[in-house]
Amino acid sequence: MRIAIASDHGGSRLKSDTTRLLQELGHTHHDFGPHDFHDVDYPDYAVKVARAVADGEFDRGILICGTGQGMAMSANKVKGVRAALCHDTFSARISREHNDANVLCLGERVVGSGLAADIVKTWLEAESSDEERHHRRVGKIIALDERRALEGF
Ligand code: RB5
Repeated sequence: MRIAIASDHGGSRLKSDTTRLLQELGHTHHDFGPHDFHDVDYPDYAVKVARAVADGEFDRGILICGTGQGMAMSANKVKGVRAALCHDTFSARISREHNDANVLCLGERVVGSGLAADIVKTWLEAESSDEERHHRRVGKIIALDERRALEGF
């Protein structure tokens, strides 16, 4: 798969581990930065990955900050993005099967590197469900983008 990845300064160490893991698993990736350890603002990096995934340049995105919270909040502002904050493998799998999440958010200060690797592997391997109820619900998430544009909420 083609994976877009980025972090802020709070997630740069886990980003390095994760890019190495992606290589080992045979995925291609593009690192949207930052490329040094200076303090940066997570929305600036979330939007780069979120737009690249929403535009179809990449199959999935991974965003890492200290907690994953700011990345998830920012990425979910981009139309077409369903970003899931997952700190356990069950949530990672279900975020794909039930919610068809296309961006995974992680917090480097929350999970250890071993668990983070398992979460990433689980999330990449899980497929979205074919069941009608999940399609219907994800369709309603997608429709919220249109409703927001029309109704201005
Ligand atoms: C940066 O200190 C920290 O606030 C950030 O990495 C993240 O945890 C925000 O959600």
